[in-house]
Amino acid sequence: MKIARFSQLGFILAAAGSAVGLGNIWKFPYVAGEYGGGAFVLIYLITVIAIGFSVMIAEMLIGYMGRLDSVGSFEKLAPLHKKSWKYAGFMGFTGLLILSFYSVVIGWIFHYIAVSITTLPSTVSEAEQAFTQLLSSDVKTQFFYHTLAFIVITGIVLKGIKGGIEKINYILMPMLVLILGGMFLYASSLDAFSEAVSFMFNPDFSKITSEAIITAVGHAFFTLSLGMASILTYSASLPKQINLSKTSLIIVGLDTGIAIIAGLMLFTFLFEYGAEPSKGPGLVFISLPAVFYEMGSLGNVFAVLFFIGLAFAGLTSAISLLEPMVQYQIDRFDFSRMKSAFIAGGFFYLLGLVALLANINEYSELLTFGSKNVFDWIDFITASILLPLGGLLMSIFVGFIVPKTQLQAALKSSMSEFGFTLWYFSLRFIVPPALIVVMLNLMSIIGVELIMPMFGVAYLISAVVWLGSI
Ligand code: TRP
Repeated sequence: MKIARFSQLGFILAAAGSAVGLGNIWKFPYVAGEYGGGAFVLIYLITVIAIGFSVMIAEMLIGYMGRLDSVGSFEKLAPLHKKSWKYAGFMGFTGLLILSFYSVVIGWIFHYIAVSITTLPSTVSEAEQAFTQLLSSDVKTQFFYHTLAFIVITGIVLKGIKGGIEKINYILMPMLVLILGGMFLYASSLDAFSEAVSFMFNPDFSKITSEAIITAVGHAFFTLSLGMASILTYSASLPKQINLSKTSLIIVGLDTGIAIIAGLMLFTFLFEYGAEPSKGPGLVFISLPAVFYEMGSLGNVFAVLFFIGLAFAGLTSAISLLEPMVQYQIDRFDFSRMKSAFIAGGFFYLLGLVALLANINEYSELLTFGSKNVFDWIDFITASILLPLGGLLMSIFVGFIVPKTQLQAALKSSMSEFGFTLWYFSLRFIVPPALIVVMLNLMSIIGVELIMPMFGVAYLISAVVWLGSI
């Protein structure tokens, strides 16, 4: 049993810190760029509101009511189905898989902070060369910074919920908002800002394909930190009196707001200097540094600040990816936090090394299976399969296994009766089928025309519950 509890603001910052991460600033703009902008942003927004919000409340409830690590909470809330449901709690393990490549990317960011102080690439092709060189042949630099990332992430988690996780979020989150906010204000004064707005908000409906929907749903889970017990584990340390739907609303709002601000800022800079929006994962590492170069010495300041902000966002998410396993081992095996953090940390560190080597020319053949190398496989399996699966299990668990009366009691001060009825209905009969259709890619059978109305109904329901909780 844990004694340390978050304060209310501490929890909001920690959960928002978990949600706002590389997913918002690094991944969101480049996937949006790849899938044509507005159409993708629209599906993503609908999914976040329609599915993400309901699942967020469900995941928070499991931790809040269970008060234990992920496995323990599932067991405790389903005494009759304890044996089978406890396996759902092992989804916390997914976090270590994500963390392996996440830590490597944080390492790249550390490297970019260091080099941007003095040098920026003068052209996009120079930038591309530098990035490719780092990834495909510079083992030493990547090894060094991945190790540094491992030390920082594990070091924070070692200090526990209050002294480590809450404290670091109190410092880094406001700084992140300041950095991004400042750069966004500058971007909004540039001519290309309106172009960025129309790129992000003018949907071209012909671009809504089943692949775009799958990616958007996977990304919605990824960006909200849903489906692998980050939020669940943090919620086990929630203060007793808390309005869960309002808290979810704030977290979802902050996460989405920051993704949009980051996207608008990035696209403004890119368009202002004529760079391409569909550069893939290299977007912030290739196009952006070259754009910063064009700004002269202000560019160096911006580049360093931007990568520092990105590192902050990444670190506050990384600790939430590690904590579920750490907490599980403490609760289960009575490990000290130190031992637990080193075991879980050691795992992601080593797997991260493999992911890192998979991009290196000499090893890439050995570490490529089928169409993807290990790095891309981990990203794909976690985001497109394990997270939606985790979300599906959580909605079924809360929707059908946990007794309704217990849910009502826990949500009494968070929702009106009407809001509860709507949320519960959506969690049982809309969210799971929608997720199954998307996960199994049944859209070609039932048709994109049918899945969109389903999302639409869920969207309306969520909107009513949202309004009710303001
Ligand atoms: N949400 C974070 C991001 O956007 C990543 C993350 C942290 C995450 N915890 C998670 C993703 C749990 C899925 C599940 O970068």
